[in-house]
Amino acid sequence: MENEKIGLFYGSDTGYTEGVANQIREILGEDQIEVHDINRAKSGDFAPYQRIIIGLSTWHDGELQSDWDAFYEDFKTIDFSGKTVAFFGLGDQIGYGEYFIDGVGILGDVVYENGGHIIGVWPTDNYDYEASKAEFQEGWFLGLAIDEDNQSEMTVGRVTAWTQQLVEEFAEAVGSAED
Ligand SMILES: Cc1cc2nc3c(=O)[nH]c(=O)nc-3n(C[C@H](O)[C@H](O)[C@H](O)COP(=O)(O)O)c2cc1C
Repeated sequence: MENEKIGLFYGSDTGYTEGVANQIREILGEDQIEVHDINRAKSGDFAPYQRIIIGLSTWHDGELQSDWDAFYEDFKTIDFSGKTVAFFGLGDQIGYGEYFIDGVGILGDVVYENGGHIIGVWPTDNYDYEASKAEFQEGWFLGLAIDEDNQSEMTVGRVTAWTQQLVEEFAEAVGSAED
């Protein structure tokens, strides 16, 4: 059965990504969103949602967060056609500047390959890093980039602005699917 709410799926090793997931839930309101820890999710859990948010951190020089890494083979079996998907990624642009939020690019490729429509792209202005698999075109990340290690004071503002952007872009995506 279709679920009208947004499905948010996150994975988090030390709690930062979980914290951002909770901020997004608070901004949107409990009645608008259901939050799933990917650690306890199954691939079928994505099916009911038309609107999906995916959150993950990057670890160990450009690797997926451990729960997403364990889920990766299942993730590749999910059909994202007809679904609108937004990403947020956590990383450390100074300590791991050659791999900044790479996980967003890795999962983004799968969503794109499997027919999903991606919204919520975010400018690379105000970040200082060497390279990122999430930078899908010059000047743009595929999703929101959050750096709790170096720019934690910017997190609330970034999450708030991006979530407002999503509300508009999800509405546009659903509108165009109905045309
Ligand atoms: C050992 C280690 C490896 C890391 N590797 C990366 C990396 O390759 N790219 C990146 O952007 N951040 C990297 N980070 C930073 C984490 O992604 C960042 O601290 C994040 O906020 C953790 O979120 P979580 O607690 O939700 O897992 C690494 C951190 C540690 C401690």
